[in-house]
Amino acid sequence: MIAILDFGSQYTQLIARRIREQQVYCRILPYNPTIEELKEFKGIILSGGPASVYDQNAPHGDSEILQSGVPILGICYGLQWLAQTLGGEVKKAEKREYGKAKLQAIDSTTLFADIPLETQVWMSHGDKVERLPDGFKVIGKTTNSPACAIGNHQKNIYGVQFHPEVIHTTGGTQIIRNFLFKICKVLPTWTMESFIEHSIKKIRDEVGKKKVICALSGGVDSSTVAVLIHKAIGDQLICIFVNNGLLRKNEAERVIATFKDYYHINLDYCDAQEKFLTKLKKVSNPELKRKIIGHEFIKVFEDEAKKIGQVDFLAQGTLYPDVIESISTKGPSAVIKTHHNVGGLPARMKLKLIEPFRELFKDEVRVLAKELGLPDEIIWQHPFPGPGLAIRIIGAASPKRLNILREADWIIDEETKKSGLYRSLWQCFGVFLPVKTVGVMGDERTYENVIALRAVTSSDAMTADWAQLPHSLLSKISNRIVNEVKGINRVVFDITSKPPGTIEWE
Ligand code: XMP
Repeated sequence: MIAILDFGSQYTQLIARRIREQQVYCRILPYNPTIEELKEFKGIILSGGPASVYDQNAPHGDSEILQSGVPILGICYGLQWLAQTLGGEVKKAEKREYGKAKLQAIDSTTLFADIPLETQVWMSHGDKVERLPDGFKVIGKTTNSPACAIGNHQKNIYGVQFHPEVIHTTGGTQIIRNFLFKICKVLPTWTMESFIEHSIKKIRDEVGKKKVICALSGGVDSSTVAVLIHKAIGDQLICIFVNNGLLRKNEAERVIATFKDYYHINLDYCDAQEKFLTKLKKVSNPELKRKIIGHEFIKVFEDEAKKIGQVDFLAQGTLYPDVIESISTKGPSAVIKTHHNVGGLPARMKLKLIEPFRELFKDEVRVLAKELGLPDEIIWQHPFPGPGLAIRIIGAASPKRLNILREADWIIDEETKKSGLYRSLWQCFGVFLPVKTVGVMGDERTYENVIALRAVTSSDAMTADWAQLPHSLLSKISNRIVNEVKGINRVVFDITSKPPGTIEWE
């Protein structure tokens, strides 16, 4: 296992990905773990970070790490920190350097083995190593950074000013491979299969004979968590599925068929449609809707859980990007998004969290889900927000509007899947607009509502582009909705990116 100590770089997660792509397991830790915590690691990467090592509040790790004999690679700030800590000198560079630069490898025996003598690297720094620590030599340089890469072969400590983890560094993957396989001498044995094995063992050890509850939404994350934990502890897992009346067409039936009938998971189906819809009556303020739904969910879930009796654990499909922006300054669990509807539950119910995917990215969860045998329609389904269709209806979410939106949404889903474009989209859905416009059908004048079609591409939902769907698909969707969905006589297409728009309309 490799440890990545996070000094606050925007690329820390990327380093983790690059390592896992080489089938080596790694964990991101805050920049200052104890030596004890690092005992099980075969190599350490020190990430970049926004600070300057000579700043008063600059993050400093434990200098003993550098004496521990474990191979180390410092990247950008990591390089500067190790150089300064080992007695070298770091200074402000005359010129800040951002973007592409040409690296000339001087020593190709270790870190730069099997990369061209001259190769493109990605720089982003304002400081440079002015004087090398004892025992180090320059192994690579650029025009602006004479000590762009340094190394101490005896101690197996290396540092690079550039970012090998970003794709613009053309030899980046090879450099990471060299560090892993030549310097740390680890083996590429980490696979999803071994992750599953490891997780199952960990869950069993932690849970013992106790009970775990899981709020199953039917989405890929909670579904995969449920199947994994079920594999580990069988009937000690109880999944609670709340039908809040804001789900898509056939959603509840699908979840029951998959988890209860197919996987034989202990599924507690809670039909709370009335409760939610009554609370939402005449509410049109988006934030208020979200709050009402959030509170009601917690209440309903808590009541259901009480019926089960003594429960000690709550399983959640929290993913890595949900957990941390940067763990460097705030400690590992400071910035959890409360998007997840179970936010607030664990503390109130005194439940311990089980979050097996805390270190995984969405696409890794999809691979895991495949490995666990989940059906493609769950693995590849688009994200669906906790507050459901309520935030896709502008104005009050009445049962009538919900039904209209459900029908339109079904058509959008069906047609994008038929077109083969579904997987290339992050999300694609309808929004009900409480605006009435005039139309004509046959010889009849119509005066009905509007559906807005929202389709976006994105890799993480932080930013998104509106998807340039082919006209033939737009036309098919529009025709079918206007013809088949009673109450809609007009379809419009949302061409706003995020930012400045958000993906959901509310
Ligand atoms: P926005 O609208 O903020 O959405 O651009 C970004 C992504 O988050 C999803 N989303 C939610 N997911 N609970 C969720 O579980 C929520 O309250 C929620 N609000 C938005 C949205 O669908 C998109 O993928």
